[in-house]
Amino acid sequence: MRKKIVAGNWKMNKVLDEAVALTSELVNMAKDEVRNDAKIILCPPAIYLTTIQKYIEDAPNFALAAQNCSDKVSGAFTGEISAQMLQSIGVQYVLIGHSERRQYFNETNALLAEKVNTALSFGVSPIFCCGESLEQRQNEDYIGFVKNQLTESLFHLSEEQLKSVVIAYEPIWAIGTGLTASAEQAQEMHAALRAHLASKYGAEVADEISILYGGSVTAASAPELFAAPDIDGGLVGGASLKSREFTNIIKAR
Ligand code: PGA
Repeated sequence: MRKKIVAGNWKMNKVLDEAVALTSELVNMAKDEVRNDAKIILCPPAIYLTTIQKYIEDAPNFALAAQNCSDKVSGAFTGEISAQMLQSIGVQYVLIGHSERRQYFNETNALLAEKVNTALSFGVSPIFCCGESLEQRQNEDYIGFVKNQLTESLFHLSEEQLKSVVIAYEPIWAIGTGLTASAEQAQEMHAALRAHLASKYGAEVADEISILYGGSVTAASAPELFAAPDIDGGLVGGASLKSREFTNIIKAR
């Protein structure tokens, strides 16, 4: 059975007090209200990781992800954070290839393949983000475009390595726009990506990989999205900054 995951990507939001308050509220609400087995992954700004870690210590279904890491192991790369550093503080996951990183920091499929390698070599599981722009959806083979993102950044991995990867399909046109993909649109892509993984790694391996949907997920849209057979949870931006809303999304999983 693949893992059901709800991840909250805080992006560049919250000062320390707010980050701590949000975490405490989430842990308390989840303890009282969440009856399912969803894994909850918080992706705070890296500067808060060690602090937030203390607040989730006694919440076994919570884990942490960094929002990014370097493709390099160590050295003179001012301002960068390495996968080894994440490993050294006990961070289990890292977002790789978020569309904002691809767009504003020119991260290419080839660079992301390096980041995936570095993360895996230090035992940090990549949450690999992929997705097409509105223009691509309207004009091109949008499924082929997203499949190619997987091919170029993941298909060099061994079967064992791939099993440590989580995939997040996030259509760029749905991120932060309030335009959620319909459950049908998301399911179509998730099924296509799973079939793509199966074509390379076999159906059994493909079946084990969690594929999350992201893009304007709210407590209102989550139940229908999460009910689709190939949607294994969500990567949530804006709605993860509010404890009540995010808890309701977790409950929908
Ligand atoms: P959003 O962001 O939920 O605010 O659309 C999702 C994401 O970028 O991961």
